[in-house]
Amino acid sequence: MNQSTLMYSGKAKSIFSTDDNNTLLMEFRDDTSAFDGLKTEALSRKGLVNNHFNAFIMQKLDDAGVKTHFIEMIDDTKSLVRHLDMIPVECVVRNIATGSICRRLGVQDGMQLETPTFEFFLKNDELHDPMINEYHIRSFNWATDEEIQVMTELTFATNSVLVPLFREANIILVDFKLEFGRYQNELLLGDEFTPDGCRLWDADTREKLDKDRYRQDLGNVVESYEIAARRLGISTI
Ligand code: TMP
Ligand code: ASP
Repeated sequence: MNQSTLMYSGKAKSIFSTDDNNTLLMEFRDDTSAFDGLKTEALSRKGLVNNHFNAFIMQKLDDAGVKTHFIEMIDDTKSLVRHLDMIPVECVVRNIATGSICRRLGVQDGMQLETPTFEFFLKNDELHDPMINEYHIRSFNWATDEEIQVMTELTFATNSVLVPLFREANIILVDFKLEFGRYQNELLLGDEFTPDGCRLWDADTREKLDKDRYRQDLGNVVESYEIAARRLGISTI
């Protein structure tokens, strides 16, 4: 598998084509960004930790029947993935209220939700990823009715798989964001699952082990990602 041209460079990952048009190479860089690219910094080892973290979670999801684009890790910062046609929508599930939902709805930070809640956001940094609903998705033809249903079901299924997995590591899965794409008439989970795109709290102390450490200048960002990884049994040496 020869790595060839850079196809796309995002805020934290780069995507390369390979000699197989159905397969892409995804590189996790050390670059870190928050607030839709307003704040950026390179944090040593983050690419490596996130690549290992993502591989572990994607494999767990695949094993549990949530199909993903992940194929295999090829070195410390790169993985092979299936080439998806991405849907420009972000799917968020929340178990505890924190972050944007508290600002939008005026609810108490840290409040346990009666049942997990679900939100769609449009993937558009310039517009600051506005919240949208399924009518917007249908009206602007970002996805079909069936795709909306599958994205919703797979996001809740991911929550059901990952909440107990993190709980065993004494970590609360507070919320997370997923992105999906089309591949050969199927919808697969794409992008990544790492502490960059979810909130993880220590179950005893509620200490943050995710990108809020970077957003809120709490320090020890990558060290905290590694604590979460180690507790899950992921080797990042
Ligand atoms: P929020 O509280 O800022 O809406 O974020 C909810 C969760 O989704 C949180 O774990 C961060 C993640 N997220 C991203 O990773 N990228 C995004 O663009 C958005 C909107 C959320
Ligand atoms: N909107 C997300 C955040 O604030 C992602 C990003 O902008 O990098 O972290």
